[in-house]
Amino acid sequence: MNRLVALTLAVIGSAIVSWVSVVPARAQGELVLYCAVQEEWCREMVTAFERQTGVKVAMTRKSSGEFYAQLKAEAANPRGDIWWGGTGDPHLQAAEEGLTIEYRSPVMAQLQDWATRQWEQSKQRSVGVYAGALGYGFNTDLMKKKGGAEPKCWADLLDARFKDEVQVADPNSSGTSYTMLATIVQLMGENPGFDYLKKLHRNVNQYTRSGAAPARAASLGETLIGITFQHDLVTFVVDKAPIKVIAPCEGTGYEVGSMSIIKGARNLDNAKKWYDWALTPAAQELGAKAKSFQVPSNKGAKTPPEAPDFSQIKFINYDFAKYGSSDERRRLLSKWDGEVKNLPK
Ligand code: F6P
Repeated sequence: MNRLVALTLAVIGSAIVSWVSVVPARAQGELVLYCAVQEEWCREMVTAFERQTGVKVAMTRKSSGEFYAQLKAEAANPRGDIWWGGTGDPHLQAAEEGLTIEYRSPVMAQLQDWATRQWEQSKQRSVGVYAGALGYGFNTDLMKKKGGAEPKCWADLLDARFKDEVQVADPNSSGTSYTMLATIVQLMGENPGFDYLKKLHRNVNQYTRSGAAPARAASLGETLIGITFQHDLVTFVVDKAPIKVIAPCEGTGYEVGSMSIIKGARNLDNAKKWYDWALTPAAQELGAKAKSFQVPSNKGAKTPPEAPDFSQIKFINYDFAKYGSSDERRRLLSKWDGEVKNLPK
C-alpha cells in the first residue's frame, strides 16, 4: 500500500515538474524569425534560444534578396519579427526604405568596428553579426581530369575550358551573388565589369537561388567551379570534400552579415531578446558547431580556426553606402537582368 502511495505521489510530482517546465516556455511567447544563413546554423540557433529563454521560435530560411522582397511585400501587414543573417546590403536597403527599426543593444560596445559601421550606416536599423570573404572553389578531382592550370584569379574563370563549368547564384535572390556583382563593378569599373559578367555567362551552367548552393554542387562534383563566400566552401573542405578554396588574385569583396528588427514586429520584446542574445560570444560561437565558418562580430567570440584567414586575402574597399542603397540595387539588378542573364550562349 505504501509503495502504491509513493508511486502515485512520484507520478503526480513528475507531472507537476513537467507542467512547470512547459508553462514558462508558453508564457514567454513567440518569435517569428527570418533566417538567411545555412539551415543547419539557423536550427542550432533556434534550439539554443528556445532552451535558454522559453520563447517558441517559428523560423523560415530564405536567401537575403528573397527576405528583402518579402519585407517589402509584407510592409502593410508584417509577419516577421526579426531578420537574422544574410548579406549586409539588403539589410541597408530595407533600413533605407523604413522596413526595419532602430535599436541599440547593450552588447554594442563589444562589437568589431565593421559591425558598428553597419549599424551607423543603417541609421541604427541593422547591425553586423559576422563577416565573410567572397571567392570561389573548385572540385580538385574534376580539375585534374580537365587538365591545365588551376584558376587563381577572377580573370581565369573566363577560360573557354570552363564552358558550362561555373555555378553562381542569381543576384536578385542571393546576397552572395549581389556581392559578386557589386565587387566586379568596383574592381573593374562598370563597363569592363559588365563585359566580364557577359563573358562569364558563357561558362555558367546555372544561376541558383541560394548563394551557397554552388559550394555544395562543387563538393558533389555537379559543377567544376562554384562562386560563393569562401566560408561556404570550407564547410565541405572540413568534411574532406575535394574542394580547393580560392581568394581571387585581383582582390575580392566581402559581406557584413547582418541582423535587423522588422518594423511592426508583433513580438517586439522577443525580437530584442534575440537581437541581444545573437550578439553574445556564446551565441556567435554556435556557427562553428553548425560548420559555418564566418568571422563573428563580437570581439569576445572565438573566430573558428577553419575560417578563411582575412590577413591573407586582398580585399577591395567595398562601398557599402553606394551598393547598399536601394537605387543602386535596382539599377544594377535591372542592368544584369537585361544585359547578362538572358544572353544566348
Ligand atoms: O550562411 C551562408 C551565407 O553565405 C552567409 O554568409 C551569407 O550571409 C548568406 O549565406 C547569403 O546567402 P544568399 O546568397 O543565399 O543570400
